[in-house]
Amino acid sequence: MRLSPAARIVILTGAGISAESGLRTFRAADGLWENYRVQDVATPEAFRRDPALVHRFYNERRRSLATVQPNAAHRALVRLERAWAGDILLVTQNVDDLHDRAGSKRLLHMHGELLKGRCLGCQAIHSWSKDMGQDSRCPACGRGPVRPHIVWFGEMPLAMDQIFEALERCDLFLAIGTSGHVHPAAGFVEAVGPGTRTVELNLQPSLVASAFREVRQGKAKDLVPAFVEELLEDASH
Ligand code: OAD
Repeated sequence: MRLSPAARIVILTGAGISAESGLRTFRAADGLWENYRVQDVATPEAFRRDPALVHRFYNERRRSLATVQPNAAHRALVRLERAWAGDILLVTQNVDDLHDRAGSKRLLHMHGELLKGRCLGCQAIHSWSKDMGQDSRCPACGRGPVRPHIVWFGEMPLAMDQIFEALERCDLFLAIGTSGHVHPAAGFVEAVGPGTRTVELNLQPSLVASAFREVRQGKAKDLVPAFVEELLEDASH
Protein backbone atom coordinates (compact mmCIF):
# COMPACT_ATOMS: atom_id res chain seq x y z
CA MET A 1 0.00 0.00 0.00
CA ARG A 2 1.65 3.18 -1.23
CA LEU A 3 1.51 6.36 0.92
CA SER A 4 1.30 9.87 -0.44
CA PRO A 5 4.37 11.99 0.38
CA ALA A 6 2.16 14.12 2.65
CA ALA A 7 0.91 11.12 4.64
CA ARG A 8 0.87 11.41 8.44
CA ILE A 9 2.95 8.88 10.29
CA VAL A 10 2.95 7.80 13.94
CA ILE A 11 5.73 5.49 15.12
CA LEU A 12 5.72 3.66 18.46
CA THR A 13 8.96 2.16 19.74
CA GLY A 14 9.76 -0.16 22.62
CA ALA A 15 12.75 -1.78 24.24
CA GLY A 16 13.46 -3.96 21.16
CA ILE A 17 14.78 -0.97 19.20
CA SER A 18 17.46 -0.39 21.84
CA ALA A 19 18.37 -4.08 22.22
CA GLU A 20 21.02 -3.98 19.49
CA SER A 21 22.60 -1.02 21.27
CA GLY A 22 23.15 -3.28 24.28
CA LEU A 23 20.24 -2.29 26.57
CA ARG A 24 18.26 -5.19 28.01
CA THR A 25 14.57 -5.47 27.17
CA PHE A 26 12.03 -6.07 29.95
CA ARG A 27 10.42 -9.40 29.11
CA ALA A 28 13.17 -11.49 27.47
CA ALA A 29 14.55 -14.53 29.34
CA ASP A 30 17.44 -12.34 30.58
CA GLY A 31 15.23 -9.23 30.68
CA LEU A 32 14.98 -6.66 33.46
CA TRP A 33 11.72 -8.05 34.83
CA GLU A 34 13.34 -11.48 35.27
CA ASN A 35 15.79 -9.98 37.75
CA TYR A 36 13.54 -7.46 39.47
CA ARG A 37 9.91 -7.54 40.46
CA VAL A 38 7.86 -4.68 39.01
CA GLN A 39 6.17 -4.16 42.37
CA ASP A 40 9.58 -3.71 44.08
CA VAL A 41 11.04 -1.06 41.79
CA ALA A 42 8.47 0.40 39.39
CA THR A 43 5.45 1.55 41.38
CA PRO A 44 4.72 4.61 43.56
CA GLU A 45 4.17 2.21 46.51
CA ALA A 46 7.66 0.72 46.01
CA PHE A 47 9.14 4.22 46.13
CA ARG A 48 7.31 5.02 49.36
CA ARG A 49 8.29 1.68 50.90
CA ASP A 50 11.94 1.44 49.83
CA PRO A 51 13.18 4.56 48.01
CA ALA A 52 16.81 3.41 48.29
CA LEU A 53 16.10 0.25 46.26
CA VAL A 54 14.13 2.16 43.63
CA HIS A 55 16.89 4.77 43.32
CA ARG A 56 19.50 2.01 43.01
CA PHE A 57 17.53 0.36 40.18
CA TYR A 58 17.20 3.60 38.19
CA ASN A 59 20.76 4.72 38.99
CA GLU A 60 21.97 1.47 37.37
CA ARG A 61 19.77 2.08 34.34
CA ARG A 62 20.97 5.71 34.08
CA ARG A 63 24.63 4.69 34.34
CA SER A 64 24.20 2.08 31.61
CA LEU A 65 23.34 4.86 29.13
CA ALA A 66 26.95 6.01 29.18
CA THR A 67 28.06 2.70 27.67
CA VAL A 68 25.66 2.51 24.70
CA GLN A 69 25.11 4.28 21.39
CA PRO A 70 22.14 4.66 19.02
CA ASN A 71 22.01 1.93 16.36
CA ALA A 72 21.00 1.78 12.70
CA ALA A 73 17.28 1.62 13.59
CA HIS A 74 17.38 4.84 15.64
CA ARG A 75 19.31 6.53 12.83
CA ALA A 76 16.90 5.34 10.14
CA LEU A 77 13.99 6.99 12.00
CA VAL A 78 15.92 10.27 12.01
CA ARG A 79 16.46 9.93 8.27
CA LEU A 80 12.70 9.41 7.83
CA GLU A 81 11.82 12.40 10.02
CA ARG A 82 14.15 14.66 8.04
CA ALA A 83 13.09 13.42 4.59
CA TRP A 84 9.34 13.04 5.10
CA ALA A 85 7.12 15.92 3.96
CA GLY A 86 4.05 14.95 6.04
CA ASP A 87 3.53 15.08 9.79
CA ILE A 88 5.50 12.54 11.72
CA LEU A 89 5.46 11.75 15.42
CA LEU A 90 7.73 9.31 17.20
CA VAL A 91 6.30 8.02 20.48
CA THR A 92 8.68 5.96 22.55
CA GLN A 93 8.04 3.85 25.62
CA ASN A 94 11.78 3.81 26.17
CA VAL A 95 13.24 5.83 28.99
CA ASP A 96 16.72 5.77 27.44
CA ASP A 97 17.95 8.74 25.39
CA LEU A 98 18.98 6.88 22.24
CA HIS A 99 16.34 8.46 19.97
CA ASP A 100 17.33 11.90 21.30
CA ARG A 101 21.02 11.24 20.77
CA ALA A 102 20.40 9.89 17.25
CA GLY A 103 18.73 13.24 16.46
CA SER A 104 14.95 12.61 16.52
CA LYS A 105 13.13 15.89 17.19
CA ARG A 106 9.42 15.13 16.92
CA LEU A 107 9.65 12.73 19.82
CA LEU A 108 7.51 12.03 22.90
CA HIS A 109 8.74 9.91 25.80
CA MET A 110 5.41 8.53 27.02
CA HIS A 111 6.99 6.58 29.93
CA GLY A 112 9.32 9.39 31.03
CA GLU A 113 13.09 9.74 30.83
CA LEU A 114 15.96 8.34 32.86
CA LEU A 115 17.88 11.56 32.39
CA LYS A 116 15.27 13.66 34.19
CA GLY A 117 14.22 14.01 37.81
CA ARG A 118 11.00 15.39 39.27
CA CYS A 119 10.70 17.25 42.58
CA LEU A 120 7.91 15.93 44.78
CA GLY A 121 7.81 19.31 46.51
CA CYS A 122 7.59 21.92 43.73
CA GLN A 123 6.96 19.41 40.84
CA ALA A 124 9.75 20.95 38.72
CA ILE A 125 11.27 18.59 36.16
CA HIS A 126 15.02 18.84 35.60
CA SER A 127 17.78 17.20 33.59
CA TRP A 128 19.47 14.61 35.78
CA SER A 129 22.59 12.75 34.64
CA LYS A 130 24.15 11.72 37.94
CA ASP A 131 22.97 9.24 40.59
CA MET A 132 19.81 10.18 42.50
CA GLY A 133 19.17 9.37 46.16
CA GLN A 134 17.08 10.26 49.18
CA ASP A 135 19.36 13.20 49.94
CA SER A 136 19.15 14.62 46.39
CA ARG A 137 17.90 18.20 46.30
CA CYS A 138 15.75 19.89 43.67
CA PRO A 139 17.76 22.40 41.59
CA ALA A 140 14.69 24.71 41.48
CA CYS A 141 13.45 24.91 45.09
CA GLY A 142 16.53 23.53 46.86
CA ARG A 143 14.40 21.02 48.71
CA GLY A 144 12.89 17.76 47.50
CA PRO A 145 12.61 14.81 47.66
CA VAL A 146 13.39 14.09 44.02
CA ARG A 147 12.19 11.03 42.12
CA PRO A 148 13.11 9.60 38.70
CA HIS A 149 10.94 11.15 35.96
CA ILE A 150 9.61 7.70 35.04
CA VAL A 151 5.98 6.67 34.63
CA TRP A 152 5.50 3.82 37.08
CA PHE A 153 2.84 1.12 36.96
CA GLY A 154 -0.44 2.63 38.12
CA GLU A 155 0.51 6.11 36.84
CA MET A 156 -0.78 7.88 33.73
CA PRO A 157 1.62 7.88 30.76
CA LEU A 158 2.60 11.31 29.42
CA ALA A 159 1.16 13.32 26.50
CA MET A 160 -1.79 10.96 25.99
CA ASP A 161 -4.10 13.59 24.43
CA GLN A 162 -1.52 14.58 21.84
CA ILE A 163 -0.72 10.94 21.04
CA PHE A 164 -4.34 9.82 20.59
CA GLU A 165 -5.08 12.86 18.44
CA ALA A 166 -2.15 11.95 16.17
CA LEU A 167 -3.22 8.28 16.07
CA GLU A 168 -6.75 9.17 14.98
CA ARG A 169 -5.43 11.26 12.07
CA CYS A 170 -2.49 9.13 10.90
CA ASP A 171 -2.18 7.29 7.57
CA LEU A 172 0.56 4.94 8.77
CA PHE A 173 1.05 3.52 12.25
CA LEU A 174 4.31 1.68 12.73
CA ALA A 175 5.19 -0.25 15.92
CA ILE A 176 8.79 -1.30 16.45
CA GLY A 177 10.31 -3.59 19.11
CA THR A 178 7.46 -3.68 21.60
CA SER A 179 5.82 -6.79 23.06
CA GLY A 180 2.26 -5.45 23.38
CA HIS A 181 2.06 -6.30 27.08
CA VAL A 182 1.64 -2.77 28.43
CA HIS A 183 -1.37 -0.52 27.91
CA PRO A 184 -2.19 2.07 26.73
CA ALA A 185 0.62 1.65 24.15
CA ALA A 186 -0.51 -1.90 23.29
CA GLY A 187 -3.90 -0.46 22.28
CA PHE A 188 -2.60 2.26 19.95
CA VAL A 189 -3.08 0.01 16.89
CA GLU A 190 -6.81 -0.09 17.69
CA ALA A 191 -7.05 3.70 18.00
CA VAL A 192 -6.20 4.49 14.36
CA GLY A 193 -8.77 5.16 11.63
CA PRO A 194 -10.15 2.38 9.41
CA GLY A 195 -7.99 3.32 6.39
CA THR A 196 -4.70 3.50 8.26
CA ARG A 197 -1.86 1.22 7.21
CA THR A 198 -0.58 -0.57 10.33
CA VAL A 199 2.80 -2.30 10.39
CA GLU A 200 4.59 -4.16 13.17
CA LEU A 201 8.38 -4.67 13.02
CA ASN A 202 9.48 -6.99 15.81
CA LEU A 203 11.79 -9.91 16.57
CA GLN A 204 8.78 -12.05 17.49
CA PRO A 205 5.12 -11.27 16.84
CA SER A 206 3.79 -9.18 19.72
CA LEU A 207 0.71 -10.00 21.78
CA VAL A 208 -1.29 -7.63 19.55
CA ALA A 209 0.29 -8.66 16.21
CA SER A 210 -3.06 -9.88 14.84
CA ALA A 211 -4.41 -6.31 14.98
CA PHE A 212 -1.81 -5.13 12.41
CA ARG A 213 -2.32 -5.40 8.66
CA GLU A 214 1.32 -6.24 8.16
CA VAL A 215 3.88 -7.91 10.45
CA ARG A 216 7.57 -8.27 9.67
CA GLN A 217 9.83 -10.34 11.88
CA GLY A 218 13.51 -9.65 12.46
CA LYS A 219 15.94 -7.34 14.18
CA ALA A 220 15.09 -3.67 14.28
CA LYS A 221 18.56 -2.73 13.03
CA ASP A 222 17.81 -4.61 9.79
CA LEU A 223 14.05 -4.11 9.41
CA VAL A 224 13.79 -0.41 10.20
CA PRO A 225 16.39 0.92 7.73
CA ALA A 226 14.91 -1.30 4.98
CA PHE A 227 11.35 -0.16 5.76
CA VAL A 228 12.36 3.51 5.79
CA GLU A 229 14.06 3.15 2.41
CA GLU A 230 10.91 1.48 1.03
CA LEU A 231 8.72 4.35 2.27
CA LEU A 232 10.99 7.04 0.86
CA GLU A 233 11.37 5.19 -2.42
CA ASP A 234 7.58 4.72 -2.79
CA ALA A 235 6.89 8.35 -1.93
CA SER A 236 9.35 9.56 -4.58
CA HIS A 237 7.32 8.03 -7.46
P1 OAD B 1 9.41 -5.78 26.22
O1 OAD B 1 10.65 -6.25 26.86
O2 OAD B 1 8.11 -6.16 26.81
O3 OAD B 1 9.38 -6.25 24.70
C1 OAD B 1 10.46 -6.05 23.83
C2 OAD B 1 10.05 -6.55 22.44
O4 OAD B 1 11.15 -6.30 21.56
C3 OAD B 1 9.75 -8.05 22.37
O5 OAD B 1 8.52 -8.24 21.68
C4 OAD B 1 10.93 -8.62 21.58
O6 OAD B 1 10.53 -9.70 20.71
C5 OAD B 1 11.37 -7.42 20.75
N1 OAD B 1 12.80 -7.42 20.42
C6 OAD B 1 13.85 -7.86 21.15
N2 OAD B 1 15.01 -7.64 20.52
C7 OAD B 1 14.69 -7.04 19.34
C8 OAD B 1 15.44 -6.57 18.23
N3 OAD B 1 16.77 -6.65 18.20
N4 OAD B 1 14.78 -6.01 17.21
C9 OAD B 1 13.41 -5.91 17.22
N5 OAD B 1 12.66 -6.35 18.23
C10 OAD B 1 13.28 -6.91 19.28
O7 OAD B 1 9.56 -4.18 26.10
P2 OAD B 1 8.42 -3.08 25.80
O8 OAD B 1 7.36 -3.62 24.92
O9 OAD B 1 9.13 -1.85 25.39
O10 OAD B 1 7.50 0.36 31.10
O11 OAD B 1 7.84 -2.88 27.25
C11 OAD B 1 6.85 -1.91 27.46
C12 OAD B 1 6.99 -1.30 28.83
O12 OAD B 1 7.03 -2.33 29.81
C13 OAD B 1 8.29 -0.53 29.05
O13 OAD B 1 8.24 0.77 28.57
C14 OAD B 1 8.44 -0.57 30.53
C15 OAD B 1 8.05 -2.00 30.79
O14 OAD B 1 7.54 -2.30 32.03
C16 OAD B 1 7.85 1.10 32.17
O15 OAD B 1 8.90 0.95 32.76
C17 OAD B 1 6.84 2.11 32.57
